[in-house]
Amino acid sequence: MNVVYITCEITPYATTGGLGDVGGALPAALEELDVNVIRIMPMYRSVLEGDTPKSDTGIRLRVPVGLRSLQAEIWKADDDGPATYFVRKDEFFDRSQLYSLPERDYDDNYERFVFFQKAAVGLIDHFQFKADIVHANDWQTALIPYFLEHGIHGMGRGRGEQVVFTIHNLAFQGIFTDHEFPYSNLPYSCFSLEDLEFYGNLNCMKGALLRSDAVTTVSQKYAQEILTPEFGCGLEGVLARIADKLTGIVNGVDYSVWNPAHDPYLAKNYSASNLEGKAACKKALLKEMGLAEAVGKKQQQTPVIGMVSRLVDQKGLDLLAEALEEIMTHDVYFVLLGSGQQKYETLCREWAERWPEKFAVNIGYDTGLSHRVEAGADIFLMPSRFEPCGLNQLYSLKYGTIPLVHATGGLDDTIEAIHPDGKSGTGFKFESYTVSSLLAELDRALTLYRQPEAWRAVQLRGMKQDFSWGSSARKYKHLYQSLIEA
Ligand code: ADP
Ligand code: GLC
Repeated sequence: MNVVYITCEITPYATTGGLGDVGGALPAALEELDVNVIRIMPMYRSVLEGDTPKSDTGIRLRVPVGLRSLQAEIWKADDDGPATYFVRKDEFFDRSQLYSLPERDYDDNYERFVFFQKAAVGLIDHFQFKADIVHANDWQTALIPYFLEHGIHGMGRGRGEQVVFTIHNLAFQGIFTDHEFPYSNLPYSCFSLEDLEFYGNLNCMKGALLRSDAVTTVSQKYAQEILTPEFGCGLEGVLARIADKLTGIVNGVDYSVWNPAHDPYLAKNYSASNLEGKAACKKALLKEMGLAEAVGKKQQQTPVIGMVSRLVDQKGLDLLAEALEEIMTHDVYFVLLGSGQQKYETLCREWAERWPEKFAVNIGYDTGLSHRVEAGADIFLMPSRFEPCGLNQLYSLKYGTIPLVHATGGLDDTIEAIHPDGKSGTGFKFESYTVSSLLAELDRALTLYRQPEAWRAVQLRGMKQDFSWGSSARKYKHLYQSLIEA
């Protein structure tokens, strides 16, 4: 079975979050199941400048974008993973960020990703590669079914491939004005109510939902939630129409990357059979974050709350802002790593100034530190307003760091609430998105923390959970198979 996996992020080449982690791990897990996968992604500056080995294939493709005819250079990763091709066009991708500057998307995002998607389809044709399945992800690849059908010039191609489209985040739909539509060179009939038109605008995600053969999202709970107005981001009606081809397949964890037993970023490795190193990781984290005063004092008795997050509305920063005053009255340390919306970055810096001995923030994207927060924290906070899957709660389980999450989407599916007697469950979970329920759950966490044996039992239960990609990859393979046979 041949699969072309088209995505805008793959860890370790370039990533802003979980999309990259999935693009890095799922194709490898599929290959373990004898699925042949080719990946295609843009060649961003971080790919260009990164130290992963790569080379120019020499392939040059002409890609029409409206009236312009542009050249795509095709590069290839020279490493052991599934075959990965990079679409190089420095005018579009050699930029400091992937999609946006702090408060504004790049103005030419539609043009950039039309170009990328057409180059991907052009590459499939160049290889004369018999793809059984083309698997696209999120809005940046949502026009793939159209380009496979109509061709990159819009003159017709006739697609033989089955298309699977995965929604990682419905909040980003790729909405542009009708003026931009011609960049796609698609027939005007595609800009209709039955296709890409949505309240007078162009909505890429809507098109993918309607024209893909199967639509998946990254947890079962989120697959149900997005059928409601609260989570459907305006597309709940369209989703209801396609509900029979919509399924939820939860993400997995790449334990070759996220495992405290051999994590190269940690001060000391540890595992479920010997948790000793975790104390060293906690100490090192507090020191690294400038909470040095804490080190050596009553540090081991004081829990560290950790958070690694894009600083955006989705992640519950508004709730945290309301709750923090009260949280800081407790005997805790708070360590936060993140970047995103300016207003939240500013707030975080203010918190660090207000509680210099207890609250430390690092604004930025730092892979090593994200591992060290997972290892060094005691409680990992994810108060997300919505969360399609979420990966950090799964990493936390493996690192013996007990998650405290809002019961939404994948957080609800993957974390089992800790029973009051502590004898079952893997994390603290609050049901309603309110400050009082978050604080009540934090109280429970702090109470349990004062009972080291009970705490240890919950840690160990979490560390033994298995969220490896195998079972989810099997579900994708099964889905591919059913489409091929249909
Ligand atoms: P999302 O994709 O919505 O951001 P996920 O929980 O699925 O959320 O995945 C987030 C991924 O991005 C995790 O691997 C997390 O460690 C990583 N991450 C998020 N913010 C940062 C940051 N500032 N520095 C390093 N890694 C980060
Ligand atoms: C998105 C979601 C996140 C999910 C990730 C990978 O970024 O916000 O919940 O885990 O995609 O699927």
